Amino acid sequence: MSQLFERASQVIPGGVNSPVRAFRSVGGEPYFVAHGHGAYVTDTEGNRYLDYVQSYGPGILGHAHPSVVEAVAQAARQGTSYGAPTEAEVLLAEELCRRIEGLEMVRLTSSGTEATMSAVRLARGATGRNVIVKFAGCYHGHADFLLAAGGSGVANQGLSGCDGVPPSVVSDTIVAPYNQIPQLDDHVAAVIVEPVAANMGLVAPQEGFLEGLRQACDAVGALLIFDEVITGFRLCSGGAAEWFGVAPDLWCFGKVIGGGLPVGAFGGRKQIMEYLAPLGGVYQAGTLSGNPLATAAGLATLELLDEAAYEKLTCTSAELAAGLAEAIGQAGVEVVLPRVGSLLGLFFTSQAPQDFDEVSQVAENGSYAKFFHAMLAQGVALAPGPYEILFPSLAHTAQDIEFTCAAAAKAAQAI
Ligand SMILES: Cc1ncc(COP(=O)(O)O)c(C=O)c1O
Repeated sequence: MSQLFERASQVIPGGVNSPVRAFRSVGGEPYFVAHGHGAYVTDTEGNRYLDYVQSYGPGILGHAHPSVVEAVAQAARQGTSYGAPTEAEVLLAEELCRRIEGLEMVRLTSSGTEATMSAVRLARGATGRNVIVKFAGCYHGHADFLLAAGGSGVANQGLSGCDGVPPSVVSDTIVAPYNQIPQLDDHVAAVIVEPVAANMGLVAPQEGFLEGLRQACDAVGALLIFDEVITGFRLCSGGAAEWFGVAPDLWCFGKVIGGGLPVGAFGGRKQIMEYLAPLGGVYQAGTLSGNPLATAAGLATLELLDEAAYEKLTCTSAELAAGLAEAIGQAGVEVVLPRVGSLLGLFFTSQAPQDFDEVSQVAENGSYAKFFHAMLAQGVALAPGPYEILFPSLAHTAQDIEFTCAAAAKAAQAI
């Protein structure tokens, strides 16, 4: 065990502050990052990795982008938190609403978890109903009532739920299979979905799935919530709603909009958002919500995300997908790399899984862990778990992709 991991394990449960970082599902122990620049991170022992983790999404520009660093430094010099509103919060809210059609108001939070948790509370308050429908394998953060059949770290730990969550708390949460339209009734307050499931590897919505959810919600007066914490401002400027042409009633965001600092947001039409305190009776709050450093980093990031940037990112991802498919395939290993825009998954099987059951079967076949370690040994860092996706950034160059594919050709031999 590295000295640092040993020390960490003494004072932090499992040595990590978020379970997926612990390498439990791939074996071994985590590297501790000393610093990151662009597409690369360097660990405390001096090893340099081409990084496809990118903080699980926030690093869309790559690490320590000069514009973000400067914006944060400038903001920090003015003060780090006031407990009173700032102009930057208004600017970020305006920018989100400008980019997303139908998004009229947002409330900023400090994490994606807070965004989804608050959006569900708002949906319950606005409809006067209790039942929530979520999909197996979708991860919406770690709020109690959403911790049923979760993807990402929950799946990586082999958990279907979570100790400490009383059955009564999830008794109003119905879990449905992804890519199937559930039967709803007028007890349902909201259906929450990742419009592209990106916490069980990558599972794209089948044709008609999102449209079907929209119709099913409208038929019973339930609200549709898109959890765009990963897809938002990554897929394209207008996120999944623009990409698929289906608008939800409520959106949840995080990751990219904080540029690597702790941020989330949820929003929708004014008429729904005005149920929130101080205007309405749905309470939601946060000491650090709309934090000056986070809003500065988010604004600096969004400023660089224009059409050309999205085109470049999608292109990088497409090249990576094609290169990996060829490199791994040539080694005689079955692989599929489902891709939606720049979102990219990696499954060691012949057909892209369509729901969590199918994903789990593939994820548990052991190939990912072998591939992961063989890549890491060559200086390429993938997420340490088979339920995650790859996060190429705008800092990844054609040479980086080439290097990755050459490494993959060798790593595939390990499977
Ligand atoms: C789709 C989705 N929703 C919500 C969350 C929770 O966000 P956070 O980890 O910022 O609380 C995540 C985190 O990975 C996510 O991927």
